Formats: sequence, C-alpha cells, structure tokens
Amino acid sequence: MTQEASWSVTTRSEAATEVVARRLAASLPPGMALLLSGDLGAGKSVFARGVIRGLGVEERYLPSPTFTLVNLYAEGRLPIAHCDLYRLEAPEELDALGVEEYADGSGVVIVEWPERGADLRLGEPIRIRLEEVPGDSEGRCITITASGKAGKALLLQLRAATAMHE
Ligand SMILES: Nc1ncnc2c1ncn2[C@@H]1O[C@H](COP(=O)(O)OP(=O)(O)OP(=O)(O)O)[C@@H](O)[C@H]1O
Ligand SMILES: [Mg+2]
Repeated sequence: MTQEASWSVTTRSEAATEVVARRLAASLPPGMALLLSGDLGAGKSVFARGVIRGLGVEERYLPSPTFTLVNLYAEGRLPIAHCDLYRLEAPEELDALGVEEYADGSGVVIVEWPERGADLRLGEPIRIRLEEVPGDSEGRCITITASGKAGKALLLQLRAATAMHE
C-alpha cells in the first residue's frame, strides 16, 4: 500500500484560502489532478479560483460555473480543465470531454464534487478537503493529502512556502 502524506491549514477568510491555493499553484507540476471536496459553500470554488489565478489566468477567470461541467483555460502557465461535477447526471457525460488527458500530460485538472465522477481516471491526484470550523463562519480547515511522488513533493514545497511567510 502506498503511504499518504497530508498537511492541514486553517484559514480565517476567503482571501486567506486563495493565498493557500495560489501557493499550491506556484509549485504545481504538469499532469496533476486536484480533487476538491467538502460541503456546499465550503470553499471549493474559492480554492479552484486561487489555483487558476495562481497559474496566471487573472483576467478571464469565470465565476463559479453554474451549468458548465468543464471550463478550459489555455492562457496560463499550464493548460487547465476545471470541472464541477455537482450536476453530473451520468458518468458517461464526461467521456466526450477529454478531461483525463489533462491529467496525463501537460495540463492540470481541478475537480469539484469528484465523488460524482467516480469513473474519472486521474492518476494519483491530490485530495483537498475543505471543512467549516464550528463557531467561526469564516474559518475553514483545509486538509491536503497526496499519495503519489509528485503530489508529496508538492506538499513539501507548499509547507515550506507557508513556513516562510509565517
Ligand atoms: N476561509 C474561507 N475560505 C473560503 N471561503 C470562505 C471562507 N470564509 C468564508 N467563505 C465564503 O464561503 C463561500 C464559499 O463558496 P464556494 O462557492 O467556494 O463554495 P463551494 O465549496 O464551491 O460550494 P459548491 O459546492 O456550492 O460549489 C464564499 O461565499 C466565501 O466568501
Ligand atoms: Mg463550487
């Protein structure tokens, strides 16, 4: 069994969550998938936006995609496929979109509600879980878990970058 590595951080504002996401983006290698889970309103889209902006897509970022399964961004440091599977009705809907190719080469895949697209083959993704902190409406506990070599290296870099700013 592969051993996992994980790291947690608590943020106290939307902006602070975006900072964590931007730092992660700064060390993100090509071919990586990020799976974002957590309840409605936990901050998955905020985190995704931070990663997308951190990869250099500052201007054209679209607000939380309401009825779009996948938004593609080609103008950043790496090509990005941002998927929101909340409204996915059948796993086959994803087949035609080519999302897996992004996680298998030069791109990055970011998935909100990954549990709804259980068939997606995304290598050894990084799992990011956002949870509300009881008693603090703007508190979020973010836990990032990696099992693959590239993901673990990314976690180490993120940890170091965060320590540097503390
Ligand atoms: N520390 C925080 N980090 C992120 N978002 C926060 C934080 N504190 C408050 N918020 C608020 O929580 C909300 C998060 O919304 P967001 O759309 O990112 O959630 P989501 O997990 O994508 O939900 P959905 O499943 O509906 O797509 C925003 O309104 C944001 O301002
Ligand atoms: Mg969302």
